[in-house]
Amino acid sequence: MLNIIIAGPPGSGKGTLAKLMIDKFGFVHLSTGDMLRNEIGLGSPLGKEVESILARGDLVSDQIVISLIANNVKANPGARGFLFDGFPRTLPQAEALDDFLEKTGHPLKLMIQLEVDDAVCEMRLLRRGGIENRPDDMDVERVRHRLATYYAQTVPIIDHYKKQGKFIAVDSSKTPEYTLNQVSECLKPIL
Ligand code: AP5
Ligand code: MG
Repeated sequence: MLNIIIAGPPGSGKGTLAKLMIDKFGFVHLSTGDMLRNEIGLGSPLGKEVESILARGDLVSDQIVISLIANNVKANPGARGFLFDGFPRTLPQAEALDDFLEKTGHPLKLMIQLEVDDAVCEMRLLRRGGIENRPDDMDVERVRHRLATYYAQTVPIIDHYKKQGKFIAVDSSKTPEYTLNQVSECLKPIL
């Protein structure tokens, strides 16, 4: 089983790449953002608890996302591998994921960092905000707040995985297919 993190700033194309990788390789996609938006859509107690946090572009608690991820991994025994999208986003989340995967006998293989300039991320998200009504894409302040949250809280996980020798970065500023091709090349030796 191959466990891979897809990381990068908001709008870098994590979800878009994950969908292409599922079609090509058949992994299971676990996006904490999608899980949280699903809870909000259902109007569940968890959804109500987190709705305003997502709308502001702040992070929900580590404990909430760690348990969402653990439940979803356990719910998919026999998966070829998991793509973790938007998780981990803090060092405690990274440490929890490392421990959890270690115990399953399938430690994390790779973190793939999607590299794109902030201005491109902003443009992509504001464009989507005009189409899909995602509250956190609706104005430039909220998009910039998500980028600031990313730099303050998530960037430290890059060094965490560099130290483990599990980090690669790819250019995500061109087409999604271009990003996929770079990733496919990196995965060839380990698939
Ligand atoms: P999350 O859903 O993870 O949002 P995000 O990180 O802000 O990123 P996005 O999903 O907006 O962007 P993406 O990188 O997936 O890009 P996408 O492929 O969609 O998190 C939302 C919120 O949930 C957080 O703010 C937080 O509140 C909470 N949360 C989630 N996980 C958490 C965690 N672990 N801990 C705590 N809180 C957590 O693409 C974006 C747009 O660009 C799309 O319109 C797409 O079509 C377009 N696009 C993509 N690639 C390209 C390309 N190559 N060329 C042109 N356009 C492209
Ligand atoms: Mg996403």
